[in-house]
Amino acid sequence: MPLIAPGREDPELAELLDLARRLARSAGAIQRGRYEQQFEIGTKSASIDLVTEVDRACERLIVEGIQTARPADAILAEEGHGENTPDATVRWIIDPLDGTTNFAHGFPRFCVSIGVEQRGERTVGVVYDPLLDECFEAVRGAGAWLGNRRLRVTRESELGRALVATGFPYDVHRSSDDNLASFRNVLKAARGIRRDGSAALDLCYVAAGRLDGYWELKLHPWDVAAGFLILEEAGGRLTDLRGGPPDRSGREVVASNGGIHGALLAALEL
Ligand code: IPD
Ligand code: CA
Ligand code: CA
Repeated sequence: MPLIAPGREDPELAELLDLARRLARSAGAIQRGRYEQQFEIGTKSASIDLVTEVDRACERLIVEGIQTARPADAILAEEGHGENTPDATVRWIIDPLDGTTNFAHGFPRFCVSIGVEQRGERTVGVVYDPLLDECFEAVRGAGAWLGNRRLRVTRESELGRALVATGFPYDVHRSSDDNLASFRNVLKAARGIRRDGSAALDLCYVAAGRLDGYWELKLHPWDVAAGFLILEEAGGRLTDLRGGPPDRSGREVVASNGGIHGALLAALEL
């Protein structure tokens, strides 16, 4: 796969991509094997914020794999197995199972998301959907790829002809900052709207031209670390709600093909 562009060979980048890819596929194999089987389910910040033993097993596998291969790197992982090495130049940002609610219910839309930053810059992103065996990958400057297919966002410019996606935060039962007013506005303006339950796949689907846009609030760095790079490398646009650069926390994410971005931002405005 032509992920490292000719003339840009960088052995460390190649190593990081290879490791991310291998670990994402290994964790994905665990998910495929445990899908629709019995597993323990617990809760985190709210009764609807789930964590399963499969999330933890996948995270352990990924973190141990990184620590063995690259013990000096920093790791930020959703379920807390990470290690923050303050002077590390490489940081891994991991969502071991994005789409836990789907996984827990046997709804076939979830993935592994692994992003890598070098000196604070996103350089590698891998998102692996184990049921479809789809591995979305990007390296900064070398494009976004799904197998041998180079990913490109759509050219749609009319929100009325656009298919978009969103999601809702886990505090939706108790917070009035719940995305519902924006959801209503976009529903009335777009061709269609989806709530698929995996932020990382939503971003990849915009990159792959399966969606024209996506927005979500109150995400976390592990939801977006890989997907942001994949979308950027596919020619997409990423902003916060005011059209400025999105911060990597994932607090405000508006992602699109570029063509519908202004109309999407306008529709989100309350
Ligand atoms: C969640 C999914 C979901 C999004 C949530 C995320 P998790 O991640 O990405 O689509 O709406 O906000 O937290 O908990 O399944 O890893
Ligand atoms: Ca997630
Ligand atoms: Ca997760």
